[in-house]
Amino acid sequence: MSAMNNFLADFATGKTEGRYVAGELPLLPFTDEEFDIALSSHFLFLYSSRLSLEFHLQAIQEMLRVAAEVRVFPLLTLDGNRSPYVNSVVEHLTDFGFSSEYTRVPYEFQRGGNEMLLIRKNS
Ligand SMILES: C[S@@+](CC[C@H](N)C(=O)[O-])C[C@H]1O[C@@H](n2cnc3c(N)ncnc32)[C@H](O)[C@@H]1O
Repeated sequence: MSAMNNFLADFATGKTEGRYVAGELPLLPFTDEEFDIALSSHFLFLYSSRLSLEFHLQAIQEMLRVAAEVRVFPLLTLDGNRSPYVNSVVEHLTDFGFSSEYTRVPYEFQRGGNEMLLIRKNS
């Protein structure tokens, strides 16, 4: 609720200042490495029954293009099970020179949905 209230309080000003930009994965309207962090919250992995593994790989690679670090939370599908794509995504990212880390977070919206995937470029 506090995140929603913060967002609502800032939305009008943020739009005027150009801080809210509409875009749609797997292509983002931003330049390379424009951000420190790109976060997918309750989108990637959640809709694994509708969005393919290929879409997930393209989307995460695009987020890694615009940001130094990518966070995907949670790792669950709509039915509350771990997405069948998680392992494949991590293997693919390792092959392409990225490091992935599972992080337990103190926030849980879906029951058991308290794990986040943190992805960085290998230095
Ligand atoms: C379940 S909501 C999650 C909203 C918010 N991120 C949260 O965690 O509360 C899923 C969001 O994914 C967004 N979405 C749908 N297709 C998308 C796409 N191709 N690229 C980026 N976001 C998309 C929807 O607009 C919606 O806001």
